[in-house]
Amino acid sequence: PIVKDLFGLSNLEEKIRKVYGLRKVVVVPGDSESSPLAKRELGRAGAKALLSVMSNDRIVAVTGGSTLAEVAEQLTPPSNVSLKGSWFVPARGGLGESLEIQANTIVSTMAKHVGAQYRLLHVPDLLSEDAYQSLVQDPNILEMINMIRGAQIIIHGIGDAMEMARRRKLDSETVRELQEEGALSESYGYYFNEQGVVVHRMLTLGLRLEDIKNAEVVIGIAGGKSKAKAIQSVLRFGHEHILVTDEAAAIDIVKNI
Ligand code: F6P
Repeated sequence: PIVKDLFGLSNLEEKIRKVYGLRKVVVVPGDSESSPLAKRELGRAGAKALLSVMSNDRIVAVTGGSTLAEVAEQLTPPSNVSLKGSWFVPARGGLGESLEIQANTIVSTMAKHVGAQYRLLHVPDLLSEDAYQSLVQDPNILEMINMIRGAQIIIHGIGDAMEMARRRKLDSETVRELQEEGALSESYGYYFNEQGVVVHRMLTLGLRLEDIKNAEVVIGIAGGKSKAKAIQSVLRFGHEHILVTDEAAAIDIVKNI
């Protein structure tokens, strides 16, 4: 805490927490976009935040991305509680991103690191209407989806909308639609505009908006100066409880409050 105060990080945390009505904000020093060390710190802070809300009977839904992969790396078994009865599940179908940052991979790493259970969802992230309709008929997939939708804890990354459109190789027509709709940020398959209004969603199996709204704890984790606006737009949507970010993003968020 003393070091944090020296850098004014506690101040940033408190301002963001108050303005967006969050339970907790953690700001790590530096810019995780340009510094691997800062990214590791972001992951460590995310791991700590997650462990602080876990108990032995929880379902945790996890999204993909490089930040969540870092959280998984930094997770260590809690000393005071067994998590053997907890479950980690991917928030959505995940095939489509590179293996290391797919939700399935992250889920299995997290569960192994803390000694919890996990289940995976082996379906593509982006589905056609036909594929969606036939997959939800499958009893195993349906059971898994119900488990995901009942998650009490959600931990997710936040990305810039256009960056995510590129990473997901969306077709040019969808990209144009997103631009016209004013999509600025993306989280759990939903695209938000600057005001935090959902302007677009991807047809995926997994978490729906109502599941986010009903969850006991939603933890957003993202850093880097270029993500400040995206993070702010998801905060304006208003369903986060805990934000873990870095100094570079926090400074720009506070400037723009
Ligand atoms: O694709 C999964 C996801 O969590 C997105 O919802 C989010 O926008 C992105 O990854 C964040 O990725 P990164 O942590 O690599 O910036």
